[in-house]
Amino acid sequence: MSPYSLRRLQLAASLDSDSVAIIVGNKEQVRNLNIGYPFRQDNDFFYLTGFNEPDCVCVIRPAHDTPFVMFSRDSDANMEVQFGARAGLAGLESDHGVNKAYPINEFETLITSLFEKRHKLFISDNHGNYHHALGHWLTAKQPDHAFDSIKIHRSIHQLSPMIAQMRVIKDNHELALIKQATIASVAGHIKVMKTAKAGINERQLSAEFNHTISQYGCDSVGYANIVASGNNGMCLHYEENNSECQDGDLVLTDLGGEYQCYTADISRTFPVNGTFSAPQAAIYQIVLDALDASIALVKPGAKWNTLFEANQRVLAQGLLDLGILTGDLEEVIAQGLQREFTVHKTGHWMGLHVHDVGSYQASNSDEWITLESNMVFTIEPGIYIPANCDKVDAKWRGIAIRIEDDILVTESGYLNLTEKAPRTIAEIEACMSSNKL
Ligand code: GLY
Ligand code: MN
Ligand code: MN
Repeated sequence: MSPYSLRRLQLAASLDSDSVAIIVGNKEQVRNLNIGYPFRQDNDFFYLTGFNEPDCVCVIRPAHDTPFVMFSRDSDANMEVQFGARAGLAGLESDHGVNKAYPINEFETLITSLFEKRHKLFISDNHGNYHHALGHWLTAKQPDHAFDSIKIHRSIHQLSPMIAQMRVIKDNHELALIKQATIASVAGHIKVMKTAKAGINERQLSAEFNHTISQYGCDSVGYANIVASGNNGMCLHYEENNSECQDGDLVLTDLGGEYQCYTADISRTFPVNGTFSAPQAAIYQIVLDALDASIALVKPGAKWNTLFEANQRVLAQGLLDLGILTGDLEEVIAQGLQREFTVHKTGHWMGLHVHDVGSYQASNSDEWITLESNMVFTIEPGIYIPANCDKVDAKWRGIAIRIEDDILVTESGYLNLTEKAPRTIAEIEACMSSNKL
């Protein structure tokens, strides 16, 4: 059985037999006139179908003779010559496990008949394509209703939170895809480090990453590349990637290849000229120690917030040791004074989406979530000291460092999926001084 059928079965088992689940796929996005953006499927839809064509809606009916219905584009010889092959309705039924396929342009007329006498509509329509139709779905009658037939009062429920709960725990099929995305992205980061030199443009390093991940089967990246040299690293999502790298500066790279819709998310920071200056090395070591302090806590049963608290403590202590902050550690932490330089939260779920779905709090409570095996997330502490920060010694200014690894929770602890991307000062300097890949 395919992983997608298993997930549909799992979802159907969690809905009662009075339900219909509707999962809306993504449409093509127009860039200009008749040119589109590359198509990327909706994550919930892909998770449950593995089907990668635009303009589809999947309908799941628990405890039904035809539990899996799909609306999609039919075969069209002319369109397929212009824009590529389609599975078509027959192909969906023969090759994709669909029990019954209908043309997407009949969706709005046929959907209410598929509800039959079921009362609960569970909907994942992340782009709002059918919001206009929800009221009609609620009140729609059976096509063959009689004036004295029993009225059906339907209710609408959000399906995405239930799918999110499933998506937080990765199955083996997902883990294999995530691992390939991380392997590709580790290779990409190594290539970028080896290519860096004074005078090269950030966009050339970005292109080296894309080229490398393509050799590992990635079609795309999971989010816009960030290649930020010097003070550009102060912008957390710097995407311009168009400055010349200067001798003596650092480059902060945050790059993740996407493999069959699953992404990696790795940050590294390295010196343009291959050798850390003493101030750069001092700050770098604090950030790495903070990352390692969090990683060491990862195991089933650990609370999510403890990871963040552990790295903030190390970052705060390090900033105090260097005189960038002053005062008492507990005071600094209590007032969050380190946040001026550590800026952001330090991790998130990762999978089909770079900031993957799933709550960080246990359901119906203020408690932080407890880690379980087969969760995958990032840990990404940083220190950012802007070039114009005149409250610190000049030698610290213009240093932006983030280090980000992708962590899988195992039954006994963790696996750092991205540890092979050079991360210690010695590993980075050795990588950059060697031309061998
Ligand atoms: N690349 C986005 C992030 O690290 O969250
Ligand atoms: Mn991240
Ligand atoms: Mn990142």
